[in-house]
Amino acid sequence: KETEDQLIIDAGQKHFGTTVCKSCGMIYTASNPEDELQHVRHHHRFLEGIKYTGWKKERVVAEFWDGKIVLVLPRDPSYAIRKVEDVQELVDNELGFHQVVPRCPNKTKTFLFVSDDKKVVGCLIAEPIKQAFRVLSEPTGPESVSSKECHRAWQCSDVPQPAVCGISRIWVFRLKRRKRIARRLVDTLRNCFMFGCFLRTDEIAFSDPTPDGKLFATKYCNT
Ligand code: ACO
Ligand code: ZN
Repeated sequence: KETEDQLIIDAGQKHFGTTVCKSCGMIYTASNPEDELQHVRHHHRFLEGIKYTGWKKERVVAEFWDGKIVLVLPRDPSYAIRKVEDVQELVDNELGFHQVVPRCPNKTKTFLFVSDDKKVVGCLIAEPIKQAFRVLSEPTGPESVSSKECHRAWQCSDVPQPAVCGISRIWVFRLKRRKRIARRLVDTLRNCFMFGCFLRTDEIAFSDPTPDGKLFATKYCNT
């Protein structure tokens, strides 16, 4: 069974069943012309969006064996702002967010994880906040956990807790997940958000987390 799946994935093109594109990560049915067309459209837009050509002036805030983290601030040159907007559009698309306007656009800090092969494979958008509401419990019933419609129905406390930094978006390219990229983005955020101090995990808050986001945040904040 496993080898069969592998064959389909490796062949990548005309096949029945589900295919994962090795470059853009989209899962689609190659035998379905409509699906295939949708993939072609997504493929080009996505790869163009995450392409990182390198900038004359870039603020590298962390370096790793497999890439680096670049910080973009609101007054940066327009080529940097444009890249952030392009990436954010891809991320919002994937998360199903529509036109979420940041509360303080001039205080937003965006961290891009740029891979060695010059692609933006991770993105974290943070803004200053004063308070946050703790997530209280899992949504009721096992069916709502798997259901996409209910995936933001976590219950929150009515009592605000003081916080410093809100993570409005965190995203890692599908094909690069579980390589600690999100963890390194948050570590770097904690180090860079306020000059001269390393934020505690209870000073950062994840806004409106998805199931993936919640699993990550829970794990991150407990270790
Ligand atoms: N399921 C279970 N545990 C997870 C998952 C998951 N999907 N993702 C992360 N974790 C836990 C694991 O314990 C992991 O450590 P391990 O791999 O050693 O077990 C630990 O968190 C660290 O994970 P990272 O490798 O640093 O996380 P990754 O780089 O894969 O990125 C992210 C996590 C950003 C949530 C990614 O899955 C993603 O982009 N998902 C789609 C977009 C999304 O839903 N983003 C969150 C939106 S909420 C918001 O923006 C505020
Ligand atoms: Zn593709």
